[in-house]
Amino acid sequence: MFSSPLGGGVFRIAQEKGLLSFSIYNIRDFTHDRHRTVDDRPFGGGPGMLLKPEPIFEAFEYIKKTNQPWKGGTPIILLSPQGRLFNQQIARDLAQKSALLLICGHYEGVDERVKEHLATDEISIGDYVLSGGELPALVIADAVTRLIPGVLGSEESIKDESFNEGLLEYPQYTRPASYRGWTVPEILLSGNHQEIDRWRRRKSMERTLKHRQDLPKDAGASPEELEKPADNC
Ligand SMILES: C[S@@+](CC[C@H](N)C(=O)[O-])C[C@H]1O[C@@H](n2cnc3c(N)ncnc32)[C@H](O)[C@@H]1O
Repeated sequence: MFSSPLGGGVFRIAQEKGLLSFSIYNIRDFTHDRHRTVDDRPFGGGPGMLLKPEPIFEAFEYIKKTNQPWKGGTPIILLSPQGRLFNQQIARDLAQKSALLLICGHYEGVDERVKEHLATDEISIGDYVLSGGELPALVIADAVTRLIPGVLGSEESIKDESFNEGLLEYPQYTRPASYRGWTVPEILLSGNHQEIDRWRRRKSMERTLKHRQDLPKDAGASPEELEKPADNC
């Protein structure tokens, strides 16, 4: 689940630049029985199997011992559809940390004691249920990795994109200026950067209002700005 994604894209760049490293731990390596059992039936009955607490706690203790000096403030994040919803602000906060530990659940989930006595945070990547925490871990890792200074070629691309100031990004076009009769908005060809910035900000607001009415609440935009339609649509 991890080797292919971690070997490409931003992950490869970040590792090659020495800005970040990944360690994957298999909780089966922290079991003590012949079958390397990591799951068991839930007390009280019900469908499916739960990940047992012992291999997870023992894996954590091993990670702590082999990653010295252990930084006390390292977030220990349990991936779960019941956690707080992941967003760009959480990605920014996590990008400030020197290390992150992500616990991937599987099957019916994880014994509650992991949440109560080990995890310091519980994060969901959206209101849907996936079969395991591996893809959510990669989603979070990608969003965080690209925010680490030096990973992306241009810091500008991070500054201008969706969710900064609580707005979605404006529409963008590249060459050719006319394709199958569909032309690029004239303002973008004008060379007038002040007007282009104004147009982009208006478009961002218009788009945000149309698709994500929840976002402008914390945007830097004033209510008047948000109500004004964009020129040169
Ligand atoms: C099938 S899910 C378990 C769902 C659980 N029974 C429930 O209803 O909340 C198995 C694992 O996938 C991961 N997972 C599934 N959906 C997720 C989501 N939206 N965000 C983060 N992790 C998720 C979690 O690690 C979870 O323990």
